[in-house]
Amino acid sequence: MRLVLLGPPGAGKGTLAAFLNKELNIPHVSTGDILREEMKNNTPLGQEVKKYVESGGLVPDEVVIKLIENKFSSDSAIDKGYMLDGFPRTEVQAKNLDAILNNLNKQVDYAVYLNASLPVVIERLTGRRICRNCSAIFHMKNNPPKEEGICNECGGEVYQRPDDNEETIKTRMDVYLENTKPVIDYYEAQEKLKKVDADKDSQEVQENLMKIFNGGR
Ligand code: AP5
Repeated sequence: MRLVLLGPPGAGKGTLAAFLNKELNIPHVSTGDILREEMKNNTPLGQEVKKYVESGGLVPDEVVIKLIENKFSSDSAIDKGYMLDGFPRTEVQAKNLDAILNNLNKQVDYAVYLNASLPVVIERLTGRRICRNCSAIFHMKNNPPKEEGICNECGGEVYQRPDDNEETIKTRMDVYLENTKPVIDYYEAQEKLKKVDADKDSQEVQENLMKIFNGGR
């Protein structure tokens, strides 16, 4: 299956991607994860994007489009499907993605829209913790690591993302409303949009999505 996961910061895109990866074995491609890896390794790209990522702004379109183009032309794992998380985030990215995928004959099947409200998103992101090593996602209230600060999956260090503070979350939400809402309309016009109420707990979100896939709603 070839999916695009859409929704505001903290809607649960990464959490859903981890579930679908286990359930359906679909490779997960997250531009946020790729950019954070570049920043961690202090590469020239990491240095270039740091100011955008940490302030909650968008990295320039041409940078992320190139990144996705390289990934899709070089990674054979994508032959069995993909889940794009955090891309496309602007209409320009969506149009460029279609051009890249048309060339490869790997067009998107569905765009899954996780619709979550601002108070829910703030509560989720301020409580979120992530493994520095394997990117497993935790929440201090809903899903805390068994041992404080240690990842259940790999034993890595669990940390809080620097952009997960209330002020930057609000900036990310504003950026989302202005730039990414048109992407939802873009996929709706293509009749590929599948909407899920993402204020619900993770299990309900996952069950509702599987029902949509099974029933083709
Ligand atoms: P990115 O990493 O993509 O961040 P984001 O879109 O802000 O999304 P998040 O990762 O914050 O949230 P999520 O929806 O994955 O939520 P999660 O599952 O973790 O991007 C970061 C930055 O990189 C951007 O700001 C930008 O600067 C740059 N960037 C990336 N892509 C770009 C692009 N294409 N163009 C330009 N710039 C780009 O869940 C959150 C928390 O809630 C977790 O703690 C989880 O346990 C919990 N949770 C999840 N679902 C539920 C649920 N249903 N019920 C209860 N708790 C839940």
